[in-house]
Amino acid sequence: MLKNSKHSYGWLAVAIHWLSAIAIIGLFALGYWMLTLSYYDPWYRLGPWWHKSIGLILLLITLVRLVWRWVSVRPELIGSRYENYSAQMGHALLYALLVVTMISGYLISTADGSGISVFDWFEVPALITTIPEQEEIAGDVHWYTALSLVILASVHALAALRHHFWDKDATLKRMLKPQK
Ligand code: HEM
Ligand code: HEM
Repeated sequence: MLKNSKHSYGWLAVAIHWLSAIAIIGLFALGYWMLTLSYYDPWYRLGPWWHKSIGLILLLITLVRLVWRWVSVRPELIGSRYENYSAQMGHALLYALLVVTMISGYLISTADGSGISVFDWFEVPALITTIPEQEEIAGDVHWYTALSLVILASVHALAALRHHFWDKDATLKRMLKPQK
């Protein structure tokens, strides 16, 4: 089952959810570690190369994810009205933080007018270079949105675990494997 149904996420949504979650946690750790490296460390250049390449692939995947979410059925949320409302707000905020983190990362890297090479495979050109103090402002935005994203994702993961172990409902199961 590739597509979502009224009762479950399909394989595409499941695959993108978990790939994105792994990428986001990896990018956060790598970004944080990158800042501690000295100029002579080989990873001083390799770190940002991986970070930017994975980050831009994630941006592409997220666009596919949002289009897919828009064109396919959305599984009905499980829980009380209050829980459903907070889940909806939480998911919207996760998407917003994710998009702003990726765009601000792009704006840091392209502030000096140079494009970004994705795995030396293709280049994404610099489109916006005219914001005053672009690199500094985008850098601050990137840090605070990335941090908020991982904090909110942790609360989100706890909520999913509470559904599974406390309420014993299908919330987590249907995000791990499409349910009939
Ligand atoms: C969800 C995706 C991402 C996360 C969680 C993330 C996280 C981070 C973190 C924690 C840092 C270190 C702290 C900081 O200086 O802000 C960082 C730095 C950086 N990120 Fe990202 N990042 C993501 C996506 C991207 C993308 C798509 C790009 C560019 C294409 C990018 C470019 C950069 C750059 C250039 C730095 C170094 C900034 C500096 O030297 O101040 N990031 N990122
Ligand atoms: C960086 C980490 C993560 C991010 C950014 C993230 C983001 C999201 C988003 C945006 C949705 C809404 C999907 C939609 O309907 O469009 C979602 C759903 C879901 N996530 Fe995550 N997630 C992350 C990690 C996790 C983890 C670690 C777990 C489990 C422990 C988890 C469990 C779930 C479940 C069960 C749903 C379905 C919720 C429902 O049916 O109401 N997520 N996630």
